Amino acid sequence: MTILTELHQDHINLDKLLVLLRSKVGQLRAGHHPNFNLIGDVVSYIAGYADGFHHPREDKIYAYFKGRDTELDPLLENCEKEHNDLKQSSSQLQDAIDGILHDAVIPMNEFADLLDDYVSRQTLHLNLEEGDIFPKLEAIAEEKDWSYLAQQLPKPDDPLFGEKQAVEFTDLYKELIIDMNAA
Ligand SMILES: [Fe+2]
Ligand SMILES: [Fe+2]
Repeated sequence: MTILTELHQDHINLDKLLVLLRSKVGQLRAGHHPNFNLIGDVVSYIAGYADGFHHPREDKIYAYFKGRDTELDPLLENCEKEHNDLKQSSSQLQDAIDGILHDAVIPMNEFADLLDDYVSRQTLHLNLEEGDIFPKLEAIAEEKDWSYLAQQLPKPDDPLFGEKQAVEFTDLYKELIIDMNAA
């Protein structure tokens, strides 16, 4: 599996979670009370995996390819900035969910806006990478770049983030599907 294929697979997994979070926005807007524990688990997963592992891997790749293409450079810089912003919005959302779980009074329409904004920003970011950045990287990178990077980047079978993370994701995803069907 190539590096871009791995990142692409991460995007597919993340997108599944975002679709489900989006449905929670719909439930909130319809006046239903979703399972906040579950929403909290999803956001923690995204914070741990995307903010903690997927984006840092991308940052290393983007830093490596900087200076190769004048059209690509500003896109890469923008993407790195978005990684920081997304990390901040994950912790902002986690704080709001913690508040709700600890009985803080947060108007549900405000929380729905926060979640809506979070899902939209994450989705736009995935689309920017899939639609713009990855195709450009594929066009300029050579085989030797990928083999160099493959040695530099943490391995996907890293004990912390490899198999174990995949199992965590599968369990969480199953739980979400059950929750969706029960709603
Ligand atoms: Fe990214
Ligand atoms: Fe990404």
